[in-house]
Amino acid sequence: MTVFIASLFLPKTIHFTLPGTPPRGSRSEKPQPNPRPAPPERQPSLFQPPSITPPHTPTDEKKPSGLFTNEDGLRVHIPTTTAIGEDGVRAPADRSSPTWGGRLDQPMSRANSPPPPSLIQKARNLHQKAKEMGRAGITQPRTLDRSESHERVFAHANWKIVNADQGNGGLRNAAEAASREGKVGDCTWVGTLGMPTDALQGTQQLQDIQDKLATEHDMLSVCPSDKDFDGHYSHFCKQILWPVFHYQIPDNPKSKAYEDHSWKYYVNVNQAFADVIVKNWKRGDVVWVHDYHLLLVPGMVRKKLPEAKICFFLHVAFPSSEVFRCLAVRKQLLEGMLGANLIGFQIHEYTRHFLQTCSRLLSAEATPDGLQLEDRFVDVVNLPIGIDPVSLSQHREEDEVKRWLDTMRERYAGKKLIVARDKLDHVRGVRQKLLSYELFLNKNPEWRDKVVLIQVALSTSEKSELDATVSDIVTRVNSSWANLAYQPVVYLKQDIDYAQYLALLSVADALMITSQREGMNLTSHEYLFCQDGKISEKKHGSLILSEFTGTSSLFGGNELSVNPWDYRACADAIKKALEMGDEEKEMRWTKLYEAVNHHTGSHWFSEILARLDVVYEQQHRHDQTSVPRLSLNTLVQQYNRTERRLFILDFEGTLVSWGPVNQIIPVSPQRTLDVLNDLLLDDRNTIYVMSGRRPEELDRLFRRVPNLGLIAENGCFLRDCGSTEWTEMADADQIRSWKDSVRGILTYYIERTPGAEIEDRRCSLIFHYKSAEDYESATRQALDCASHINDACEDQRVHAIPMEGCVLVEPLDWTKSTAAQRIFSDLRDRMAPDATHTSPVDFLMVVGDGREDEKVFKWANGLGEEGLVEEVVTVSLGTRNTEATATMTQGVSGVLMALQRLGSIA
Ligand SMILES: *[C@@H]1O[C@H](CO)[C@@H](O)[C@H](O)[C@H]1NC(C)=O
Ligand SMILES: *[C@@H]1O[C@H](CO)[C@@H](O)[C@H](O)[C@H]1NC(C)=O
Ligand SMILES: *[C@@H]1O[C@H](CO)[C@@H](O)[C@H](O)[C@H]1NC(C)=O
Repeated sequence: MTVFIASLFLPKTIHFTLPGTPPRGSRSEKPQPNPRPAPPERQPSLFQPPSITPPHTPTDEKKPSGLFTNEDGLRVHIPTTTAIGEDGVRAPADRSSPTWGGRLDQPMSRANSPPPPSLIQKARNLHQKAKEMGRAGITQPRTLDRSESHERVFAHANWKIVNADQGNGGLRNAAEAASREGKVGDCTWVGTLGMPTDALQGTQQLQDIQDKLATEHDMLSVCPSDKDFDGHYSHFCKQILWPVFHYQIPDNPKSKAYEDHSWKYYVNVNQAFADVIVKNWKRGDVVWVHDYHLLLVPGMVRKKLPEAKICFFLHVAFPSSEVFRCLAVRKQLLEGMLGANLIGFQIHEYTRHFLQTCSRLLSAEATPDGLQLEDRFVDVVNLPIGIDPVSLSQHREEDEVKRWLDTMRERYAGKKLIVARDKLDHVRGVRQKLLSYELFLNKNPEWRDKVVLIQVALSTSEKSELDATVSDIVTRVNSSWANLAYQPVVYLKQDIDYAQYLALLSVADALMITSQREGMNLTSHEYLFCQDGKISEKKHGSLILSEFTGTSSLFGGNELSVNPWDYRACADAIKKALEMGDEEKEMRWTKLYEAVNHHTGSHWFSEILARLDVVYEQQHRHDQTSVPRLSLNTLVQQYNRTERRLFILDFEGTLVSWGPVNQIIPVSPQRTLDVLNDLLLDDRNTIYVMSGRRPEELDRLFRRVPNLGLIAENGCFLRDCGSTEWTEMADADQIRSWKDSVRGILTYYIERTPGAEIEDRRCSLIFHYKSAEDYESATRQALDCASHINDACEDQRVHAIPMEGCVLVEPLDWTKSTAAQRIFSDLRDRMAPDATHTSPVDFLMVVGDGREDEKVFKWANGLGEEGLVEEVVTVSLGTRNTEATATMTQGVSGVLMALQRLGSIA
């Protein structure tokens, strides 16, 4: 059995040695736990004054450590002509987006990005190409454009497999930790090479690369065309999906998000992944798809491999349904995800958003465990990813880290350090952080001179306005309070290497994260780990953390939680962080550290796979096609050998053919009544009929079957056999109070949905819109209405269920199954005290076709498993997946025939 780990980028990429390029020795092919950071001298750094170590001009050798990446780890390529900030030149505010393949040792993309790149972009690309060709020893100024020679260069160059800088580092570490600990078997990665491949398409070179990756590294490479990849990644993922998932709806005038038709490229790349998986899949294999780049893959694989065991995990945040519904392709995306057996999210909030979104947009029924679709159940869980403490502690033992520690200790002696490392985009809240810090210094003069904020900013080529604003604030703060010996803000607009980063986390007194949205960023985990005092005398530092991060929901308020928009509160948090007593610091840190150690990457990895096994089993067992057909012969034998028989039979769709609820004329009413009466002639039989209808209706329908028991309104009312009195199971006061609130909401929607109506049952309310004038818009209203009720009335223990043509609002606490339990316990209470048997029933048959019947099946099967009832028969008529142990495909007439057969046995 193999686990396919499908993630946009493979953990490896290819380095080509072009003629004329000195071979690079720094990167080796042998697998390393993590890419080694470059030596510090190569990294420009503000920690050492330039006079001591002048920053090197970046060369093609300079590689910032691959452990720092944007949220996908994809390095943003900034053309050297517009090196942002350093020389005061800022990138023009154009559409420039992260591109890939900016490396000089890899082919250029042939994508002609949709929409066509601006002139500036083109100029830059040309410049870049010119440089590259120059380096490759080709001096053909007139063939600057994509030339044959360029391609031939790569098709014949020497190459080797190296660790990739880009990709999901958290996932990679988790997978490595889990396999190191022996928790998983074979894993095969499925992903792109992280470089343009058009230049290599169809060459032996590419074939060799793919073969070597597959055989030596267990990696299957997906090679979409450059155009597909660019449209997929730079456009659909980066300009539409990522912003929307982080609550930034791309609707500003500059955004080209909706013009570029990038959706089809997204589909193509997803299909390419699905095709590779399908081609390599063997029975029993697991397919685990990762993150928002590949939302459609589960559905595409499911289509080809209905049996496959598929998991999907979203690493970033999932937005509220209000935001998600802005996506034009919202349905396709959700349906793609729902191809999985198990869908995982980082935290509960995202799970809830997803369930709400599905029930709102797809009219799937959401339960706390997942989604009930027409024919399948999809489980949904939340489990946060974490760090790998083992490799982290190895890394920080390195000499590099120690050297940096010494440097920083010396340089910032006597100062308190607040550190931060963010990508410079709107979501990370760097501007808010600096403003809060400024406010803090304004309000607390005693701290000027004693505290330094070190902000590392990973720049992006876009968002130059933000860049300008942030630089202005830095200059302002600096010019207000800096002197020869003191600089209040150190603003480093360049990434630092991993050793420097670890050292920084270790010497910090506080870490400050003010993101406006963040899935599960592990920076704070790493910080807490580094604050254990093992390599630095500074320890138990404070954590100032935005309440909008996924991480904050794990930390139980032991961090200093802030709303990044509330500058005053942020400034107070800084003060608190700096002035907190050692005891409190230690107490808070200890709890946070426990949380970090509890949620490790390896635990996450193996736990998700274990859950997938469990839910797959469950779903499979309940799959209608794997539940056997009811065997009439066996049923007859079971019946014949038992003496105390209980039948609980659903009414609509089981004993009568389905018709609209308000037309209570069953198709062959007399036959049903005759069959029931026949069965009741045998006084060893007890029969209850359960229904969603009101008590009065059932009284009327069954007045010719005197000894029948009845369950009305899906379990809210019960009429015992032989009695004419109804027992109200539900708490009338509670019902009244929720009905008032729900009716208010329903009325609002009814007014906006011509032709719809409310049916007021005793314990439930139904919003009918079958006969609405505009069915489509009525459906939308109804789904909105259901999600509104589910949001607003959860505390009142009711829920709204969208169904075909109506929304049913009913209590959570009284169901058909609570009624069935009551019947069983009443029978038990009525057992003769000298009875020899332990149970009032030795035969229990439940037949139904609907959602509410499932709970009764489950309860009945439970009695069988516990041995309380000898013969339990649960039969489902529907096509849905079911808890029942048998199915029947002939519908109502099949049920009546079976019951008739039993009734004929004397
Ligand atoms: C966490 O944030 C940093 C800085 O913004 C970023 O480089 C890193 O990729 C993020 N990590 C994840 C898992 O999103
Ligand atoms: C801050 O001010 C100091 C002293 O005036 C100066 O040397 C330094 O370059 C300034 N730094 C920034 C980032 O403005
Ligand atoms: C029921 O059981 C009795 C006694 O074992 C047997 O004689 C009879 O044939 C059975 N009836 C059916 C329909 O199996």
